[in-house]
Amino acid sequence: MKKKFAIPVILFIAGFLTLGMLSGFINLEQKPWPVPDAAKNKKNPVASNPESIAAGKALWSTHCKSCHGTKGLGDGSKAAQLKTEPGDFSKAVVQSQTDGALFYKTSEGRDDMPSFKKKISDADDIWSIINFMRTLKK
Ligand code: HEC
Repeated sequence: MKKKFAIPVILFIAGFLTLGMLSGFINLEQKPWPVPDAAKNKKNPVASNPESIAAGKALWSTHCKSCHGTKGLGDGSKAAQLKTEPGDFSKAVVQSQTDGALFYKTSEGRDDMPSFKKKISDADDIWSIINFMRTLKK
């Protein structure tokens, strides 16, 4: 190889590797998703009983499963196309959040996570999905 090409080629490859590593780091860490206190402290008005959980499960299959997976592990059929990881709902990082916080995130959405307040217009249906999400805890 002629000398004058070697440096640009090396720089190009090094740049590629750096970019790849950076995007890897960004994907590994989910960025914090702040929830306003009032939303966090909102109580779930729908009692968690078999009817609510069954309703939540049906809605989950229609609206959430494609990304979050049947058991909320983040392994839905669309998950690989997403820029952000959908997370693992069996884990404490999600299960330790209040019903109000999960309701807020489901309603508002962010980036790849759609907003559901229009698509699921009855708030009680979203609360039922939260009741179902509690059954995903390992
Ligand atoms: C198109 C793919 C997609 C669909 C459909 C989807 N989600 Fe998500 N969801 C995501 C992604 C990606 C994230 C991570 C977003 C982020 O951190 O910016 C996420 C994050 C969340 C979070 C926050 C989790 C955390 O770690 O705090 C909740 C709660 C949630 N989704 C609930 C739902 C519910 C309930 C449904 C169905 C009604 C649903 N999602 C449908 C992609 C999706």
